[in-house]
Amino acid sequence: MTVFQRNEGAVQSTVPYLSVAGLRDLVGTVGLPTMLCALADRMSTAFTHWDAYAKSPRVTHETASGFVELMPVADAQTFAFKYVNCHPGNTALGVPTVAGFGAMMDLETGRPIFLSEMTVLTAMRTAATSLMAARALARQDARTLAIIGNGAQCEFQALAFQHGLGIDALRLYDIDPAATAKVQRNLAWTGLDITACTSAAEAAEGADIVTTCTADLRNARVLTDAMVVPGMHLNALGGDCAGKTELDPAILHRAEIFVEFPPQTRVEGEIQQLAPDHPVTELCDVLRGAHQGRGSAEDITLFDSVGFAVEDLIALSYCRDMAMETGLCGDLDLLVSPNDCRDLFGVLAS
Ligand SMILES: NC(=O)c1ccc[n+]([C@@H]2O[C@H](COP(=O)([O-])OP(=O)(O)OC[C@H]3O[C@@H](n4cnc5c(N)ncnc54)[C@H](O)[C@@H]3O)[C@@H](O)[C@H]2O)c1
Repeated sequence: MTVFQRNEGAVQSTVPYLSVAGLRDLVGTVGLPTMLCALADRMSTAFTHWDAYAKSPRVTHETASGFVELMPVADAQTFAFKYVNCHPGNTALGVPTVAGFGAMMDLETGRPIFLSEMTVLTAMRTAATSLMAARALARQDARTLAIIGNGAQCEFQALAFQHGLGIDALRLYDIDPAATAKVQRNLAWTGLDITACTSAAEAAEGADIVTTCTADLRNARVLTDAMVVPGMHLNALGGDCAGKTELDPAILHRAEIFVEFPPQTRVEGEIQQLAPDHPVTELCDVLRGAHQGRGSAEDITLFDSVGFAVEDLIALSYCRDMAMETGLCGDLDLLVSPNDCRDLFGVLAS
């Protein structure tokens, strides 16, 4: 993984990049389930080396219609950032709620070494992170997954859990039945036993794992206390900025809560609804064996996911490796390369 490798190409003038078409071809070559599971494996390794990363909460700028964010992180060799937004009203305009792109820089020279689309890649890395957490926290015999909110993230979550965890039944609910029908169409080939439900309560009934991935800029109650039974694992994605949550706070008082990076999650996650000292466990402690994770088959475990920059760095470095290997990288004419490196003016003259 990148954290332990030297960065090749840090003095080239063109920057390798992965376009949307490039990522589509990469997925076509490698296979989405294989990529999601490989990403989850790399993610687990990264979380066990958590102290190797320079971490900080992301920089967010909010407006009435949504928020934009910069997510920076560094390991010993590489700095990376992702730009991403969340604008739930965008779907009415015919563009996705979430869009993003990312870049990796070599720390020895400071030069960009990879650029990538990160809209699809964010959905992939989020599904891989959810899979990593569920492998550590869900009951081993979990077979039924409910997904509430059937938008852009949904199919990626379903495929990751099918191939990485052995989920074979999927229960879907969305306030917009067209979103559920889209997922049924897209996943028809998978062999998953898919049930379209007419309420969140119906979707959660009988589920071992419940994923919430709705988009609404408010403190919503997508999942109420009565829908949650002992033994469930909750994978809550949609509460990921201040004032935007999905779970009834009563659930938070019954659940063992696991988070990525507490300084960010306390502001952005479901736990913004709790006292600032409410006990939570860092996922890295479970991955490196310092915490047992799920204590019993009756526990309710909650992964309060907000998305963290380390996950983006892992996704970028994985795609860089794979795109280089398969020859699917483009070359972007982004950096000047003057004959005399102090003669920047001469670049314009030539
Ligand atoms: N935690 C993370 O790492 C992470 C990563 C990516 C996205 N997200 C968040 O996940 C959420 C979903 O993202 P997306 O790209 O799929 O958005 P999207 O707009 O494509 O889909 C959201 C879906 O939720 C549905 N919905 C809204 N309110 C609902 C409710 N009360 N009950 C059931 N369905 C409801 C909408 O109809 C829509 O189909 C967003 O809030 C986004 O910010 C989190």
